[in-house]
Amino acid sequence: MASSATKKSVLFVCYGNFCRSPMAEGVFRDMVSQRADKDEWKIDSAGISDWHEGEYPDERTSATLESKIGHRLDHIGRQITEDDYNKFHYIFGFDESNISDINSMKPAGCEAVIQLLGEFDPQKQRVIADSYYGDMSVFQRVYNQCRRCLTAFLEKEFS
Ligand code: 4NP
Repeated sequence: MASSATKKSVLFVCYGNFCRSPMAEGVFRDMVSQRADKDEWKIDSAGISDWHEGEYPDERTSATLESKIGHRLDHIGRQITEDDYNKFHYIFGFDESNISDINSMKPAGCEAVIQLLGEFDPQKQRVIADSYYGDMSVFQRVYNQCRRCLTAFLEKEFS
């Protein structure tokens, strides 16, 4: 199927759609909400697995977003679908395992740009590691990585 995605469409994909991808979605929505073109964007997140399907994000992701951007992300966990590959121009993973899984589930003819979000990090931390077994400081680190990378992404691709 041919892509119907505009360039201003971003899907964040981690393993569980529970910790990292909702963090990135929350950060990116906050950043885009301050842009003149905010209504043109499609932003979502999903998981490789369905383990947290139907659940709100991890409490530590929600608490971090609340303290940093002033509110929680209104998102219910879901697994990536075949449709996503045609609906989003950018599909960002967080570690090499995510990228390998996203690529292995990719339908034929997919034109999405699939890459590590960390490729944009000016501090060159290519991997945004799983925070599930970490404490709040690890979630703060994920928040900071997401914000650095997404700032650089917008500057590189959309300024
Ligand atoms: P995420 O983190 O991929 O950043 O959402 C994880 C969440 C849950 C699990 C693993 C990683 N889990 O094993 O349930």
